[in-house]
Amino acid sequence: MSEAFDASTARARIEALRREIEAHNRAYYELDAPTVADAEYDALFRALQALEAEFPELAAPDSPTLRVGGKPLAQFAQVRHDVPMLSIQTETDTGARGAEQFDARVRRELALPDTAAPLEYAAELKFDGLAVSLRYEHGVFVRGATRGDGLVGEDVTQNLRTVRDIPLRLNGDAPPLLEVRGEAYMRRDELARYNEQARARGEKPLLNPRNGAAGSIRQLDPAVAAGRPLKFFAYGLGAVTGWTLPATHSELLAALAAFGLPVCAERAVVCGGHELAAFHDRMGALRASIPFDFDGVVYKVNSLALQARLGFRSREPRWAVAHKYPAAEARTVVVGIGVQVGRTGALTPVAKLQPVFVGGVTVTNATLHNEDEARRKDVRVGDTVIVRRAGDVIPEVVAIVPEARPMKPLAQDMFAQEPVQPPFALPDACPRCGSRVVREEGGTIARCSGGLVCPAQVKGALLHFAGRRAMDIEGLGDKLVEQLSASGQVKTPADLYSLTVPALAALARMGERSAENLAAAIAKSKHSTLARFIFALGIRNVGETTANDLARHFGHLAALMQADAAALEAVPDVGPVVAESIVDFFAEAHNREVIERLITAGVQWSEGEGRMAAPPGPLAGKVFVLTGTLPGLSRDAAKAMIDAAGGKTSSAVSKRTDYVVAGEDAGAKLARAQKLDITVIDEAEFISLLQDQGDRS
Ligand code: IVH
Repeated sequence: MSEAFDASTARARIEALRREIEAHNRAYYELDAPTVADAEYDALFRALQALEAEFPELAAPDSPTLRVGGKPLAQFAQVRHDVPMLSIQTETDTGARGAEQFDARVRRELALPDTAAPLEYAAELKFDGLAVSLRYEHGVFVRGATRGDGLVGEDVTQNLRTVRDIPLRLNGDAPPLLEVRGEAYMRRDELARYNEQARARGEKPLLNPRNGAAGSIRQLDPAVAAGRPLKFFAYGLGAVTGWTLPATHSELLAALAAFGLPVCAERAVVCGGHELAAFHDRMGALRASIPFDFDGVVYKVNSLALQARLGFRSREPRWAVAHKYPAAEARTVVVGIGVQVGRTGALTPVAKLQPVFVGGVTVTNATLHNEDEARRKDVRVGDTVIVRRAGDVIPEVVAIVPEARPMKPLAQDMFAQEPVQPPFALPDACPRCGSRVVREEGGTIARCSGGLVCPAQVKGALLHFAGRRAMDIEGLGDKLVEQLSASGQVKTPADLYSLTVPALAALARMGERSAENLAAAIAKSKHSTLARFIFALGIRNVGETTANDLARHFGHLAALMQADAAALEAVPDVGPVVAESIVDFFAEAHNREVIERLITAGVQWSEGEGRMAAPPGPLAGKVFVLTGTLPGLSRDAAKAMIDAAGGKTSSAVSKRTDYVVAGEDAGAKLARAQKLDITVIDEAEFISLLQDQGDRS
């Protein structure tokens, strides 16, 4: 550390840093007008983190450093809610009558005569996320919990601290205890942006905003939650001390907003059932333009005194109701059934529809998910179907309307009829590249087997082929692959080897020097190993280790390409699923053609190099497990040395392990090795073992 502080200077410095960072945060997140450069902000942030680490006694529950997420938890602690978190009764009639019935019920329960004035209600949206409770003590956020069963929830404080919307300290004169109830949710546009980035990182996208919110809040690693676009709306209270409550719910929401808590602007105070129904309609019409999902509205008797008089029936207040919207569904006609090919080659049937307006948008396509689903629902061209747009984005076909199916008389019996169209079946050839379509073992997923040639898969195939552990073409990353494939001149990995420097410079819009470097990297990759080459092909279910095993077992590419399932299953660790993927891959003529072209282009390795029989490496048959950080060797380097010497690496310690090579911070694997009495060696011993064995052979 460059600066040395005593505790009181540190306190002053920490407080100043916190104030400054909070001010920048407000400018950035609330006003959307950043006041510092990123690098400067990062420097302030790191300075604060360093000071807090040095003076742990100065930690504060509202420090901005807590926004980035602390240490992962093993499990959530339980939280007993002092005031239970209730649910709301749902009005089953989704029409205007639903609102009138609630109003009538409340009036009856309050024993109001028909002549009494209309009742006042607070009307809000019913947010589609996860209910949480925030506990503020003297204005400082100290604990956040999920609803759980209503009485006991989970302590998700760390995750909720990462939600920028949630103030870590309340504005103004906060009471000693204030528990705020509300909903953690995600905006649709932010979810879509997050998903785009997640896909680019090769991670699974979030299914929809509700799952996204619930899943993120219930992450054990707060750093994961910190990366998710979570937001929060307050809609009620839990336990409170030392605060005089306002007279109405609407004033309560205004007070929460004044404390700095986010309260949804789409709310109203209305009178009587009529106006409730009008609010329901008005919000329904706005659904598509409001950036987050809500599946209905909530009505609450506005007067807190009347709420108290009405009380509860079991776990539900008599003074509130959720009035939902009907699921957005519509009828239309299927004009065709198309097949989409995804980036991994998976085939998805998609119904092409006569355009129909559902839930605020015009829908022309609806997914049928997969062949089994399409058959189960028995969707055929010409059918009238019901399509639904749920909270998530892709509309789906719910069911067909059987009585509307086009029929024709049977030729042999004029009184009987049969459907005009046959049942749907996926094609046997990929609609994008004509390669054979294969069904995965027992799976419902049909896949194009033309991994090396299919335009739908080309980007993934190229990136994988060029990867560090595959052909290792330095500099051929995401952006270049995008440009090369978009140019239409690189349709398969083999095309890479016919690119000239000027062609590269033009296609990738890069300078002469960069193009030369890339061309050199491509040329260099021609000298590889059989194992890397097999891995680079991107055969489904064939990772680096399997590729190594295959290279060693077969020794020659030709032998591998000719192997049938039985021959493949003779390789240790190759089961029926992997064997089938390999057979399918090489059975596809398009793939074989690309391999031919690669070899003609000069891609080579010494055949038989990895062969098990000859010559055996000094560590032949020895199984190693690497754990911890080795002082002088990377994991990859150590692995490569073991490989080159004929040994194997495994990720788990078992009785079959011969050596565990342990570095710094070796944990559970080391413990297990000791328990199983397996030889544990350090880096120096490992290197001398390689040399010894090398000398001996
Ligand atoms: S008030 C005593 N208001 O709906 C009433 N709940 O069944 C307590 N919800 O999962 C809830 N929007 O998270 C209330 N404006 C709103 C709401 C709302 C969504 C959720 C709540 C809970 C469920 C209640």
